[in-house]
Amino acid sequence: MPKDADAKAAPAHVAIIMDGNGRWAQKRGRPRLFGHHAGARRVREIVEACPQLGVKYLTIFAFSTENWKRTQSEVAGLMSLFRKYLRREADDLYQSGVCVRFIGDRVRLDEKLVARMDDLELRTAGNDRVHLTVALNYGGRDEVTRAAKRLAYEIEQGRLTHQDVDAETLAGFLDTHVLPDPDLVIRTSGEARISNFLLWQSAYAEYEFVDTLWPDFSAEEFAKVLSAYSNRDRRFGAVRA
Ligand code: IPE
Ligand code: IPE
Ligand code: MG
Repeated sequence: MPKDADAKAAPAHVAIIMDGNGRWAQKRGRPRLFGHHAGARRVREIVEACPQLGVKYLTIFAFSTENWKRTQSEVAGLMSLFRKYLRREADDLYQSGVCVRFIGDRVRLDEKLVARMDDLELRTAGNDRVHLTVALNYGGRDEVTRAAKRLAYEIEQGRLTHQDVDAETLAGFLDTHVLPDPDLVIRTSGEARISNFLLWQSAYAEYEFVDTLWPDFSAEEFAKVLSAYSNRDRRFGAVRA
């Protein structure tokens, strides 16, 4: 099987649940937002490490559909951080050949933030060195639900019939429709759960849970996690001959 032949290669698509910012700040007696700022600073190093490690696609979980449950001040602080981050990093991302995309529901995000997201997507659309996808107001169940709703609408309009519905058609309605499935999902901070991240797409992903809190996760540790991945035997349900 061609997929088995790839098993020893670097993961083409790595997805990261960047967790532990709050605890990182608490350990230092600082407010949670201090940890989010430190976490945001880590992103660049990890993105920049991708090309030499053979990672073509990097998807990072920045804000979940459940994160609205946090205090108003933490949510507002995060939204303001995202806006500033996009303004500050836009030129560098563009110049480093990064193609940036966003997944998640934009409806609940503020207009100014959405405008910056749209601009950055448009500006970097021709880049191909690394494909960075930022999951913002993203939830796997929400994504599948929105996809099912759009699919139902297409059927209602007579453009599709129920006979057309298969896994491929449904996947075509997901936010990730242009991306390959993740090969490896990494979660920092010691929690061993996926918290509604890429539920559909990770059906056959490998998982690595590391204890390091996200603001301490270095390119060096990233490389180590990737080398552990290369020893895994991915069978995709088949039996090795
Ligand atoms: C991850 O860090 C960032 C977001 C969810 C926005 P947390 O804020 O969840 O940090 P902990 O898990 O409380 O330490
Ligand atoms: C997952 O982390 C979401 C992001 C990293 C953006 P959470 O900290 O929100 O997840 P739970 O609440 O521990 O499951
Ligand atoms: Mg957390």
